[in-house]
Amino acid sequence: MLVDRFGRVATDLRVSLTDRCNLRCAYCMPAEGLDWLPTPDVLRDDEVVQLIGLFVGLGVTEVRFTGGEPLLRPGLVDIVSRVASLTPRPRLSLTTNGIGLARHAGRLRAAGLDRVNVSLDTVDPERFRTLTRRDRWSDVVAGLAAADAAGLRPVKVNTLLMRGVNDDEAVTLLRWCLDRGYELRFIEQMPLDAQHAWDRAQMVSAREILDQLAAAFTLTPQGQGCRGSAPAETWLVDGGPGTVGVIGSVTRPFCGDCDRVRLTADGQVRNCLFAREESDLRGPLRAGADDATLAERILAALWAKRAGHGIDDPGFLQPARPMSAIGG
Ligand code: 5AD
Ligand code: SF4
Repeated sequence: MLVDRFGRVATDLRVSLTDRCNLRCAYCMPAEGLDWLPTPDVLRDDEVVQLIGLFVGLGVTEVRFTGGEPLLRPGLVDIVSRVASLTPRPRLSLTTNGIGLARHAGRLRAAGLDRVNVSLDTVDPERFRTLTRRDRWSDVVAGLAAADAAGLRPVKVNTLLMRGVNDDEAVTLLRWCLDRGYELRFIEQMPLDAQHAWDRAQMVSAREILDQLAAAFTLTPQGQGCRGSAPAETWLVDGGPGTVGVIGSVTRPFCGDCDRVRLTADGQVRNCLFAREESDLRGPLRAGADDATLAERILAALWAKRAGHGIDDPGFLQPARPMSAIGG
């Protein structure tokens, strides 16, 4: 089992398949993009599948593919189908910005993908263009519809509100998602942007989001305040069946219940989004290390997981890698 010294067990593996992206969300990366990983550094498809197999052997039951933008990975469908044939078969999901999903949803479903999380921060195409620096709103919306039609359900939508940009949209976004049967989750902005411009005072907090929503909807807490290892606290909206979630990563941290572990596109294990150290698997893998040796490295990496992200600590340092290179 992937257990750490605080007794937490990691069962949810986030695999970044590329650090590249076709959007330039202002809270994530600069307009000119970033220095992408050189291709030889990125794990090949067979390497990704082999490493995921090791994690599954160590107790991982849920594999989430992320990026950057994972739909930009040429071998994605094949990777999904190979991971879906592992035993025991993990549940498979994908975090995507939705661009290209309209084209891929059916094939991904057929390959064994169970669900998608699509990031969408506004229902206004013009605002989308400003926020992401690309005129692709309708592609995302088409991607959402295609995911739903392909049965990649529940279709979840992730939204990040930014002060003075889209912080007036909580209610509108929720109505829009409820009308379409999508499950909306608001995420507090974390200090993971490439520009290091995150400012706590500017962050739109979970409290503030809930206050906006409560003014327009009747919210009934689900699960009696117990969210288990799920980061989202969820509410029934107007008696249901629609729900809304708020992920208060900063103001309501869930580190004590964290069941996540991450594998970057270049083959590093990260035991936390905010980890300051990584454990290299690519080097040993390419040097011919056997599965037992690689598994030991994974276990050691997990054991060293810290108690929490420490965003509130005076000595907090943002990790060297931005979100787009870690995987959400
Ligand atoms: N804090 C919180 N969420 C973020 N995302 C990107 N950057 C951040 C950040 N700094 C979100 C995106 C997307 C998911 C992959 O992560 O909006 O929904
Ligand atoms: Fe791309 Fe996601 Fe970053 Fe937006 S937040 S630029 S979609 S990686």
